[in-house]
Amino acid sequence: MPTEPITSPIGVFDSGIGGLTVVSALQALLPAENIFYLGDTARVPYGGKSRTTVERYSIEIGNLLLAERAKIIVVACNTASALAVPRLKECFKVPVQGVVAPGASAAVASTKNKIVGVIGTRATIASAAYENEIHSLDADIRVISVACPLLVPLIEEGMFEDKITDLMLARYLAPLLASGIDTLVLGCTHYPLLSQTIARIAGPGVALVDSAANCAQAVKNVLEKNALSAPADQLGELNVALTDATERFLRTAANALHLELGDVALRSLQNPEKP
Ligand code: DGL
Repeated sequence: MPTEPITSPIGVFDSGIGGLTVVSALQALLPAENIFYLGDTARVPYGGKSRTTVERYSIEIGNLLLAERAKIIVVACNTASALAVPRLKECFKVPVQGVVAPGASAAVASTKNKIVGVIGTRATIASAAYENEIHSLDADIRVISVACPLLVPLIEEGMFEDKITDLMLARYLAPLLASGIDTLVLGCTHYPLLSQTIARIAGPGVALVDSAANCAQAVKNVLEKNALSAPADQLGELNVALTDATERFLRTAANALHLELGDVALRSLQNPEKP
């Protein structure tokens, strides 16, 4: 039995702004759903932090989302998905959906030669979460993972088409391409913003798996399974809140994703129930 009304929002969080790629995918697939997005801009980046810290941050944000009556918690951040989803599932009664499992199953469905590349933050790659998830589905797939710590800052600077970004990508992707991957998992919220450049450098023989789009499909399935889908005639609203007023990349990302953001609220994680 649903414990929250079906008109309650989908609660989405990320370490910062990059999770708007998941919001964009959710809006495209589930236009009737209300969405409450929390970007932890005060503490971003998570990508170099420990599991203990990322778990603690994620639980604090989960409490805030529940205070917003979220009917499902969507962990848009790949780092938090890789490190904290099991702990979140223990802590919260509402369904918790991360991006790693949907991304991994899309990669398994995509690969023909069974050689898959994964790129992400240092913490995501060190956790081996994608590798483990892919191997749980098909143990014969060879997974080659590369941490790309410099990509997030380049993307946040809006350097989507830039020689420096091309050079960094060529360097990061070299070992993956040399290994003959036919599928590349974009294992970070930010990377879908760079997918055209990544596709150009990876070449036509490599299929890109965007964890944002696959996560949206997984959310749809979970909502349907739990009878939590919004009424089809509802027009979903998006509310965005940040823990620090860092609006620059917010506007860059919103423009790139064609998102209507409206007013952006500031929220503290100390007293999640009070703005
Ligand atoms: N959101 C993070 C991820 O998807 C990238 C930014 C960060 O390091 O916090 O892994």
